[in-house]
Amino acid sequence: MSEIIIAPSILSSDFANLESEIKKLEENGATWVHVDVMDGHFVPNLTIGAPVVKALKRVTTIPLDVHLMISNPEKYIDDFAKAGSDFITFHYEAMPDNVAELVEKIHSYGIKAGISIKPKTKPDEIKQYLDIVDLVLIMTVEPGFGGQKFMSDCADKITEIKNNAKDNLIIEIDGGINKETANYCKNLGANALVAGSYIFSSDNMKEAIDSLR
Ligand code: DX5
Ligand code: ZN
Repeated sequence: MSEIIIAPSILSSDFANLESEIKKLEENGATWVHVDVMDGHFVPNLTIGAPVVKALKRVTTIPLDVHLMISNPEKYIDDFAKAGSDFITFHYEAMPDNVAELVEKIHSYGIKAGISIKPKTKPDEIKQYLDIVDLVLIMTVEPGFGGQKFMSDCADKITEIKNNAKDNLIIEIDGGINKETANYCKNLGANALVAGSYIFSSDNMKEAIDSLR
């Protein structure tokens, strides 16, 4: 298998120093930077919006992997696309009836499109979309906060997604990733891993990133 994509989540970074944090990630071998967007409605927490993506884009060339944990994602795709997102992933639960349109809208900007499922959503529900998306993001914690405990039964969905996926589908896992849980996910066939607290609480960022590969 090709190299595992490591996407550190800036949710756990120092927001007062985002530019140096993102440069540090770049220097220490991160493949992408994962940007967690929360609206206080789809999830019980509020984080950042498109202006921050735009600001990050000015200071880095690393691909920005934008995870929209928001209701009505269709209203915000234009903003996040124009801000410089490289991947835009929305939640299936936020838009169960308009997945294809949303994917098309993201693709119209030449950006890769991802679909994410929360812990209680069955992989079967998104099976019909696996051919049109570039990425599936499987949540292994309830979305909303960093630093939660990995739920292995959620990671077990990787098998079903993989069995129905085209060859180049990216299967990304988000929530509670550390060295051990990363191995669990990679063994099942995940090829992209998001990690927030594990990377930002480590004393050696490079070692932490390398340990997930
Ligand atoms: C949770 C976010 C995650 C989070 C991961 O809702 O989607 O990306 O930042 O953080 P850790 O790695 O600490 O579980
Ligand atoms: Zn995320």
